[in-house]
Amino acid sequence: MNTLKLTTEPADIARAARIIAEGGLVAFPTETVYGLGADALNEAAVAAVYQAKGRPSDNPMIVHIAGVEELSRLTADESEDIRRVTEAFWPGPLTIILRKLPAVPDRTTGGLDTVAIRMPETEAARELIRLSGCPIAAPSANLSGSPSPTRARDVIADLDGRIDAVICGDDCRVGIESTVLDLTSEQPMILRPGIITAERIAAALGKDVAYDPSLKEAAKHTALDPEKGAQDSDFKPKSPGMKYRHYAPRAEMHIISGAQDRVREEIRRRQEAYEKEGRKVGVILFEEAAFAEAAHDLFSRLRDLDAAGVDVILAGALNDADGVGFAVMNRMLKSAGYSVIRV
Ligand code: TXA
Ligand code: MG
Repeated sequence: MNTLKLTTEPADIARAARIIAEGGLVAFPTETVYGLGADALNEAAVAAVYQAKGRPSDNPMIVHIAGVEELSRLTADESEDIRRVTEAFWPGPLTIILRKLPAVPDRTTGGLDTVAIRMPETEAARELIRLSGCPIAAPSANLSGSPSPTRARDVIADLDGRIDAVICGDDCRVGIESTVLDLTSEQPMILRPGIITAERIAAALGKDVAYDPSLKEAAKHTALDPEKGAQDSDFKPKSPGMKYRHYAPRAEMHIISGAQDRVREEIRRRQEAYEKEGRKVGVILFEEAAFAEAAHDLFSRLRDLDAAGVDVILAGALNDADGVGFAVMNRMLKSAGYSVIRV
């Protein structure tokens, strides 16, 4: 398949919209990461997305809309909470989970009776949705398992020849995926952290917002016994679910966690040791409170280090007491297969 490379010019977006309306697959920019879009109400098109990504088909997708009035095509849910969060954060990097209408195929929701919905901020994305005339299901436009794509070239690197077209727009402003907020029960719950934090959602709702307990639990799991931090090769996940790496670079990756100066020292020491063994090392170290910058850069840095052919990536942990820091660490831990060295 020859993948069309399109621009964000109106004629190109119109062409992309026709492809979607006819059941094809188009990757497009959003403010978070690039998405791989298909008509959310067309089962065959949605199935083709899973195929192109090499993704297990029980993984539910986010359905993208261009205006709040389109919510009623997907869900009958209405509430003060929905009104408040959509008013506060849409268009923007927040996805909400609501009960689905029968019109939404099981394929789109991975068999769940709920549907994830978001209205992206990027104008080209909303124009694509408007012109295609359908809600667009879009997971991140990467091969399953690899870091999410934040630049058009990342999409092309993964999916060229596997999809109908890519709209090559700007690099993504946010750099990590949207916050996923479950609004199907009394207590709103964050299922995936993002740059829209629990604190901000709580302020908009006027009530508490919880993080899914498993997120906090996962953040505590590490692949290494802290006492034996040096034995990198003994990678043994403590929890079976942790053995799968997501957002993963090809290189071996370790996170160094602790006070900033000790982290820098440990990275320097390890880098030297690896280089003595003839291994090429890449370092990812963000300024201490530069959370938004870390979110923006993490996935592209991982991809660039892979492209540069490094064997080992050493990354400094971020302070996860900060909501955005927590969201970035959620990805960094998965990228490293939970290999954390405490200093
Ligand atoms: O920023 C984003 O959200 C990007 C851009 C393209 O919009 N999309 C994205 O999609 O990250 P994806 O498929 O990579 O991630 C979808 C996430 C998964 O964690 C999935 O489990 C969750 O949303 N999800 C989708 N539908 C759900 C549902 N009905 N209930 C619970 N979680 C759901
Ligand atoms: Mg993804």
